Amino acid sequence: MKRILAAWMPAIALLAAAGIALIPAPTRAEDGARIAGQICSGCHGVHGRSESPMFPKLNAQTPEYIEAQLKGFREHARGESAARDYMWGMAALLDEAAVKSLADYYSHQPATRGAAGDPILMAKGQEIFEHGVPDKGVPACASCHGAQAQGAGTFPRLAGQHREYLLRQIEVFQNGTRANAPVMTAVAHTLSSEQAKAVAAYLQSR
Ligand code: HEC
Ligand code: HEC
Repeated sequence: MKRILAAWMPAIALLAAAGIALIPAPTRAEDGARIAGQICSGCHGVHGRSESPMFPKLNAQTPEYIEAQLKGFREHARGESAARDYMWGMAALLDEAAVKSLADYYSHQPATRGAAGDPILMAKGQEIFEHGVPDKGVPACASCHGAQAQGAGTFPRLAGQHREYLLRQIEVFQNGTRANAPVMTAVAHTLSSEQAKAVAAYLQSR
């Protein structure tokens, strides 16, 4: 991972050299598209449709959630190793106006679905997503993330997201390194690893 980051150092330098942290307010919509294309797409894919499960998809994500996360990286509230290695430095270079225009840009990119998995596992995941597991204290994910997992405000879209990324996030909520969202940490603690796998398989293909 360190090696990959090293390969990205020129991009970070470029970002600084381009004076992206100094973009004057008010935000121009095209700044988001430009920064996304020049910098973020290297990891998050063209229009945020990341192809690698290492990097979350950003297309169709809610603007409030994107803003909150970029702030979370900047303030080091998301302390998991992938966040430290990749996003702390990146977020530090973005001012408020750049953050807003990136959030606006990605939230307007069309949603995409990932590959379907084992149908039995996905059906189990759908059941958990929609209804929770009442006798185990697992709440219905849909109650916060939306009936279609489309997200709303600071509740993120989960539909179409890489399965491996979703599972990694449930893990970092459980081990406390992603500590910016007590409500989701509590939810993560109710999930068994089998349940987490099922719900992640369902969400990737939504
Ligand atoms: C060098 C690779 C890399 C680059 C370049 C990069 N990111 Fe990221 N980004 C990541 C990784 C890895 C994660 C996941 C961190 C984790 O797993 O905790 C991430 C996570 C995020 C998240 C959180 C998504 C979620 O679902 O919680 C946002 C928002 C984000 N990046 C925005 C951006 C923006 C905007 C840019 C361009 C200014 C950018 N990133 C550039 C690697 C990168
Ligand atoms: C009480 C509301 C609530 C419920 C119920 C809930 N979540 Fe969340 N979840 C959140 C919030 C809020 C966040 C954003 C945390 C942050 O800002 O970092 C989140 C974030 C996440 C993320 C990280 C997404 C990303 O892009 O990094 C995953 C994965 C997730 N939730 C899965 C689930 C699953 C699976 C369930 C059902 C078992 C569930 N959530 C139920 C509130 C909830």
